Amino acid sequence: MKKKIIIANWKMNHDFHKTTSFLRNFLKIVLEKKINHNKEIIIAPSFPFLHISNQILQGTNLKIAAQNIHQMKNGSYTGEVSASMLKSIGISQVILGHSERRKFFLENNDILLKKIKIALKYGLHIILCVGETGFERNQNQQFNVIKNQLVETVFNCSADDIIFFHIAYEPVWAIGTGKNATYKQAQTMHEYIRSLFLNKYGKNISNEISILYGGSISNLNARNFFLQKDIDGGLVGNCSLELDKFLEIIQS
Ligand code: PGA
Repeated sequence: MKKKIIIANWKMNHDFHKTTSFLRNFLKIVLEKKINHNKEIIIAPSFPFLHISNQILQGTNLKIAAQNIHQMKNGSYTGEVSASMLKSIGISQVILGHSERRKFFLENNDILLKKIKIALKYGLHIILCVGETGFERNQNQQFNVIKNQLVETVFNCSADDIIFFHIAYEPVWAIGTGKNATYKQAQTMHEYIRSLFLNKYGKNISNEISILYGGSISNLNARNFFLQKDIDGGLVGNCSLELDKFLEIIQS
């Protein structure tokens, strides 16, 4: 059985104190109740706290992810963080292509592909987000949009590189809105994404690739998403900020 993957995307939330106390409390409960068994749990705090977060979780199977990297190796890019910097503090995971990065920081598929290439160069595992806007869904363009996002990014990578990817399907209209996709809408899209991997890379890879749903996942609806055939886990924003809710989601 494939491991379910639960990722907490904290975005620009939680200061040093909140981050470290959450992780210490979380770790205590996880170890007591062994809820990390057969699951991959990844937490993505803000850049300044990645190092300490990684140290807190050291020696466990819990992982820390960055929420972004710059596409260049190094250089005069004030305010940016590189893949090699993450690597140097032991970070092995990065979220790329989140719709908030696409929208507010104008990240397009070209930039994203560069980020993917540099992440792979430094051996980082990538949580690649794709998703259509509400407008695109209303125009019935969701399948074209997702296909295009994959074709212009991850599908430029070799089959050997695909083990470094998780795909997160996050309909933009469902992120932070409390308006999640229906289980059926999500399952249909996940099945479609898997079929694209089947066409491009064959059966083994399409079976192995983990496709996560994200967009207003809560402690109340997580279980039903995770029961869908092609949903291998979740990328959780708001509800990952509260320890109790996040624990409930993991236990779903
Ligand atoms: P949300 O965010 O759970 O708050 O909708 C999900 C995400 O942006 O990854």
